[in-house]
Amino acid sequence: MECRVLSIQSHVVRGYVGNKSASFPLQVLGFEVDSINSVQFSNHTGKAGEIESNVFVKLRCLMFVSISVCSGYTRDTSFLEMVVDIVQELKRANPNLVYVCDPVLGDHGSMYVPQNLYPVYKNKVVPVADIITPNQFEAELLTGKNISTEKDAVEVMDLLHAMGPDTVVITSSDLPSRLGDRFLVSLGSQRHVRPDGTRTTQRVRIEVPKVDAVFVGTGDLFAAMLLAWTHHYPNDLKTACEKTFSVMHHVIKRTISYAHELAGPGRRPSPPQLELRMVQSKADIEDPAIVTEATVI
Ligand code: ATP
Ligand code: PLP
Ligand code: MG
Ligand code: NA
Ligand code: MG
Repeated sequence: MECRVLSIQSHVVRGYVGNKSASFPLQVLGFEVDSINSVQFSNHTGKAGEIESNVFVKLRCLMFVSISVCSGYTRDTSFLEMVVDIVQELKRANPNLVYVCDPVLGDHGSMYVPQNLYPVYKNKVVPVADIITPNQFEAELLTGKNISTEKDAVEVMDLLHAMGPDTVVITSSDLPSRLGDRFLVSLGSQRHVRPDGTRTTQRVRIEVPKVDAVFVGTGDLFAAMLLAWTHHYPNDLKTACEKTFSVMHHVIKRTISYAHELAGPGRRPSPPQLELRMVQSKADIEDPAIVTEATVI
């Protein structure tokens, strides 16, 4: 079966966010990618006001379909709702279609999209998604429950499953890592139906070294890689996460090394110097050496 992805995200002329962050790595992994550019910017660091005011920038969604999809997407205020309609229609035609949604609402305690997007994500988008990749803040917002412990996070992921998606990955959290304060904790949860009809849930914790810099496009790359690797390992979130987080590690490591080289000794790299080293990471994307083992919890 041909693996085809419809990717509806923003486009930048230079650099890597949105479709630029998702297409190349998916193509490298053998997926045919149909992309719809929801907006076009010169670069992500361009005009922050313009970027923030545009809801489409914050819409990152990927659909995996086994057939090519042509669609009549337009740019207007009901764009999110239209995506939901389209997902529902595509799912009627192809029940195996997988919809991956990064419910981009905010981070570190504050929302960075207009408030009125929240009920649409919560009531319409998340319920039709198969895979979601919220950060801790987004997971808390969608469920109304705070995460202070790993147990809280598991409960939040269960609440998110109850809203619809069978696969949930909290891509970053403030939870303390057993490996020390230089590690970032992420958590994943996947529900399955066993052959005998009973349900089971696999939950994993992944800890990766924190890099002291702000990257852009990493959320989009993450969603694309999780889509690819859950396609290859549909019932094995542990392996899918190990592959996904290892790709992130390799790309980020190459990016920060090069950024330091460009910035010079003792200087903090600028945002343009921190653009992801995507093309240079082709071999790591194709066959990522596993650098982080996920722990089943
Ligand atoms: P959203 O895209 O929904 O805002 P998020 O805030 O978790 O989610 P990112 O901060 O872009 O998204 O992180 C996505 C992934 O990229 C993380 O799971 C991690 O693997 C990697 N990552 C991003 N920034 C760093 C960093 N500074 N150090 C180490 N890993 C990072
Ligand atoms: N798309 C555009 C145009 C952006 O400017 C940004 C962030 O600034 C993003 C998407 C999101 O990037 P990330 O994948 O890091 O969450
Ligand atoms: Mg973030
Ligand atoms: Na995320
Ligand atoms: Mg992000």
